[in-house]
Amino acid sequence: MDKSDIVNRNFRILYFTGTGNTDWVVKKIREGLEAKGASCMTLPADRLLADCGMGFGMKPDPELLKARLGDFLSDDAVLVLGFPTYEGTVPRPFRELFPLLPEGNGRKLACISTILLAGGDAVHIAEKTLAQRGYRSFLTTYVVMPGNIRLPHFAFFQIHNGKDLDRFYESAGKAVAEIVDELLYQKAHFEGRTIADYLIGASNRWGEYILPDLWGKQMFADAKCIKRALCASSCPMGNISLAKGYPEFGTNCCTCLRCYNFCPENAIQITEHTRDEEKYNRYKGFDGWKPPHLRHVEIGRREHEPARP
Ligand SMILES: Cc1cc2nc3c(=O)[nH]c(=O)nc-3n(C[C@H](O)[C@H](O)[C@H](O)COP(=O)(O)O)c2cc1C
Ligand code: SF4
Ligand code: SF4
Repeated sequence: MDKSDIVNRNFRILYFTGTGNTDWVVKKIREGLEAKGASCMTLPADRLLADCGMGFGMKPDPELLKARLGDFLSDDAVLVLGFPTYEGTVPRPFRELFPLLPEGNGRKLACISTILLAGGDAVHIAEKTLAQRGYRSFLTTYVVMPGNIRLPHFAFFQIHNGKDLDRFYESAGKAVAEIVDELLYQKAHFEGRTIADYLIGASNRWGEYILPDLWGKQMFADAKCIKRALCASSCPMGNISLAKGYPEFGTNCCTCLRCYNFCPENAIQITEHTRDEEKYNRYKGFDGWKPPHLRHVEIGRREHEPARP
């Protein structure tokens, strides 16, 4: 196929990333599309949510979100959704954006999800939901990326960092190259639609009910915390506050594990067990990815501490 066979030349990628894997895939897809002369804009959901008011104890303004999404999709570009599969489905903060998207009116759609092992029907859930809003999907696919979970009850998952990531650059790079072609030439390809996919997804979805309690409510920062607020400024849910002078975790965690993995001091614990850093090593990101600063955070002072100079 040559350039004259290209069907789609204009793309908008709306995506969510917890620990950077999806961000990398989206960046590479954009580079691949642009290298072949297509136009592509990207919108990270964490930035969008923060800009629209998501913060500690605060929800984003739905009208503002709608307006921003409407601006993003103001022409007839193909909408590409990128997200990690969480517990066999689309991460909650990302799928909550779906009803706020403008009506599809036949707009083309592609759903791409990064996974560790098995996404089940997560990409199909995304395409199905948007089909009801008038979007027409031609691509649903997964990209296998490194895992970001090593926690009590989940210590069978391995964390890869540094040189151990090399094999993923090759395999994910190949997957991205195929996706770029599928997007440009509109090659129909649907993963996540079989009964087996549904069964895998359904058997994982219990996690959505359990993990916020199992992980989210068990988070605390230990004495290693240097109170520079990276966690609070970069939490996609605005679920961490330093108003009391130390990290305080709210009840709106989407269990992305960004704070846990990327705290520079490994000070965030999920139960006492994770103080054992050798056993519970943290994922430090793909290709040097670092959490973005999404919001300014006021750091309070503890009663017994002297005032900061
Ligand atoms: C809460 C949570 C649930 C996950 N559930 C699944 C899953 O059901 N299937 C899977 O293959 N990977 C699962 N993963 C792994 C991630 O999808 C995978 O590592 C992904 O690439 C992370 O992308 P990100 O860095 O953009 O957040 C899960 C990760 C987290 C944090
Ligand atoms: S990122 Fe880590 S060290 Fe920094 S404030 Fe948060 S818990 Fe403390
Ligand atoms: S508190 Fe941590 S794990 Fe929960 S949403 Fe925020 S960054 Fe993610």
